[in-house]
Amino acid sequence: GAAVEVDISELKPGEKITAEWRGKPIWILRRTPEQIAELPQLDGQLADPKSERTAYPTPDYAKNETRSIKPEVLVVIGICTHLGCSPTDKLQPGPQPSLPDDWKGGFLCPCHGSTFDLAGRVFKNKPAPDNLEVPAHQYLSDTKLLIG
Ligand code: FES
Repeated sequence: GAAVEVDISELKPGEKITAEWRGKPIWILRRTPEQIAELPQLDGQLADPKSERTAYPTPDYAKNETRSIKPEVLVVIGICTHLGCSPTDKLQPGPQPSLPDDWKGGFLCPCHGSTFDLAGRVFKNKPAPDNLEVPAHQYLSDTKLLIG
């Protein structure tokens, strides 16, 4: 399918928008400095903190702690790697139903309870085997993304 351009100039820290590419939801989240700072702290709780698994290979330009080209902007496919449900935003930290008390923000799959951090990395001992997929993408300008 054709690549899709997305303007992220209006996307504020802490906000997420959803674009569509090849019939799939593409989540674009602008993380706050606090959210970025949390990511390395979570590595020990994650199934594949460095995105080394290959079922959904992470592009080289996103094989880093934030899984992104720009540290603040996450771009992932919003489809659970278990059986394909769409996870729900749980962006706010703190206790909430079905989440640990020390939740730092991320996503919860309503189907079988897989949880993902704000880099789309799956937590250990969850049914989803892999991190959320990072689609091929690039920046056409500071505020314009090309997905695909
Ligand atoms: Fe997401 Fe099963 S489809 S946990």
